[in-house]
Amino acid sequence: MLKNPHQPIGIFDSGIGGLTVANAIHHFLPNERLIYFGDTVHLPYGDKSADAIRYYSLRISKFLLEQDCKMIIIACNSASSAAYDMLLDFFEGKALFVNVVDPLVNAVISQAYKNVGVIATKATINSSIYKNKIKSLNQKVKVNQVATPLLAPMIEEGFYSGNISKSVIENYLSHPDLKNIDALLLACTHYPLIRNEINEYYSGQVAILDSTDVVRDEVKRILTEEGLLCENRIGHDAFYVSDYTSSFEETAKNFYGEDLKLEALQIWT
Ligand code: DGL
Repeated sequence: MLKNPHQPIGIFDSGIGGLTVANAIHHFLPNERLIYFGDTVHLPYGDKSADAIRYYSLRISKFLLEQDCKMIIIACNSASSAAYDMLLDFFEGKALFVNVVDPLVNAVISQAYKNVGVIATKATINSSIYKNKIKSLNQKVKVNQVATPLLAPMIEEGFYSGNISKSVIENYLSHPDLKNIDALLLACTHYPLIRNEINEYYSGQVAILDSTDVVRDEVKRILTEEGLLCENRIGHDAFYVSDYTSSFEETAKNFYGEDLKLEALQIWT
């Protein structure tokens, strides 16, 4: 299938988290037209089985391909862990697929961290994708993973930068497995929202890595390599959710950092 630079980039997540990635791309590559899909009907993905996440990811990717996307970014670690390989096989050659795990793994290796903590949803932690990928590149790096399932729903509900989020974060980060780490991977695209609070917890003594910048760089690299980088924008971005609530829209706006109009789109009936 022929692709051209003016085709949009599709981005999906279970909800608001992928907007961190969308926002980073929007600022870095302002000529790219983005079509975002937040699957709020099925949020959180982190508590679902790998099979369920694969099924959702397949249907959403099909929708994004119907929108003629040249690239599909799986802006969700749970879906990247469970569905990336399957999507590559299933839609072979129809679009470029980008996951959010590999760019973060490459950052750990290139920055030579020795003792890395990973916090993520249960789906991502149970897949051990970060541990396996990092170890396969450098056996010597110590990787300790802790599932932090309350964080994504907490952020989704607008609880960040306050006492509630502070005590949930402290509770999780005081886990003995996260002692003496030199870097913490925020392996969920919701977590950049609580990055400052996490940084405060560590008093700036631990490097905090999230997907936003590394995925943004990877997207630019791939589009440039494929000759698909858009030089002059045509059309507007679109932000769809499978279940609309006004509170989600409010949080989404705060988060995206600019005005955002969410449209409800039923792909599940
Ligand atoms: N933002 C997602 C992730 O990166 C998923 C959060 C969830 O729905 O559990 O894993």
